[in-house]
Amino acid sequence: MEDQGGGSSRKFPKLPIPGKRNILITSALPYVNNVPHLGNIIGCVLSADVFARYCRLRGYNALYICGTDEYGTATETKAIEENCTPQQICDKYHVIHKEVYNWFNISFDEFGRTSTPQQTEVCQAIFKKLLENNWLSENTMQQLYCDTCKRFLADRLVEGTCPTPDCNYDSARGDQCEKCGKLLNPTELKDPRCKVCQAAPQIRDTDHLFLELPLLKDRLEEYINKIDLKWGVPVPHEKYKDKVFYVWFDAPIGYISITACHLPDWEKWWKNPENVELYQFMGKDNVPFHTVIFPSTLLGTGENWTLMKSISVTEYLNYEAGKFSKSKGVGVFGNDAKDTNIPAEVWRYYLLTNRPEVSDTLFTWVDLQAKLNTELLNNLGNFINRVLSFIAKPPGVGI
Ligand code: 2FM
Ligand code: ZN
Repeated sequence: MEDQGGGSSRKFPKLPIPGKRNILITSALPYVNNVPHLGNIIGCVLSADVFARYCRLRGYNALYICGTDEYGTATETKAIEENCTPQQICDKYHVIHKEVYNWFNISFDEFGRTSTPQQTEVCQAIFKKLLENNWLSENTMQQLYCDTCKRFLADRLVEGTCPTPDCNYDSARGDQCEKCGKLLNPTELKDPRCKVCQAAPQIRDTDHLFLELPLLKDRLEEYINKIDLKWGVPVPHEKYKDKVFYVWFDAPIGYISITACHLPDWEKWWKNPENVELYQFMGKDNVPFHTVIFPSTLLGTGENWTLMKSISVTEYLNYEAGKFSKSKGVGVFGNDAKDTNIPAEVWRYYLLTNRPEVSDTLFTWVDLQAKLNTELLNNLGNFINRVLSFIAKPPGVGI
């Protein structure tokens, strides 16, 4: 297929054009700690890519923004696993993501990352406005603190014995026991230990800043309770200068900062609701963050932001009998798809026809084979063959 999208081959900054439809498209920024699988690809980047190509074909001025979501515990945990720094993890996996999406012909205008100076600048500016406008409140909570590592431990950085009497699994994680499945608060673990140094952490009080979202209070607290990070955008506030932003505060700001990496005049896209329409693509687990937290954050600044006009959400694509799992390595990952030698266009077709729009859908190798043989080869192949034959030898012209 001809490249309709530009992406790496047409890299120049695009501004909104007065009098034209200006469409700003984002697909959820994938966590950087792993290789993307087919579910991630259809869930966000491929769906948004189809929309971006459609907009460009209609002559709209479309800007398609994506990039890796690099801060947060997911990265820190992977860095510990691979015995390197968070920055090294981000540098390694950012390239892997880029290569996979490039192979799938995803036509980003900018594929960036969140660990940039632009991200720090935009994120801190938004925070300062929220603070000025009194949209943040302070709260004290209890978390496990490791005296050896000198840090509060994110839930995945704690292990201990499962508190469920029948289970007693001795390597339960701070957020969940993988043996009995019970969801846990790290302070519930018996004999907790720091995953990094194995020392026993203590419960300590710690202060955090919260965005005032009464309707989402319970959910927000549950998430916030789980974190204490060093790998992130620093909070520009005297009392919180040793802390960084919670990843779901900073991640959506990545859309803005990645646009800022694309062009210095990023505000013409992001503070121009009269002339720009924002379309956002994501998997279902991302919805509350894009429909409540992110818009509330922007509204709270009191500035004139471009807010979401339309959201496109997918359910999950499952693999054979179960779920795609990055951590367990179950499923088809971007590099596996490439290694099959089946062309990217064929994968794109299959994933789009099997897009999980109204319920979860299933990827099976047998179904892939059947669809390619019947739909692409028999139906489309025969159709093209007949049309070409008629063009070469029109009926009535003689043999
Ligand atoms: O679910 C995820 O993979 C998140 N990294 C999505 C973030 S979307 C946006 F907020 F950056
Ligand atoms: Zn420790």
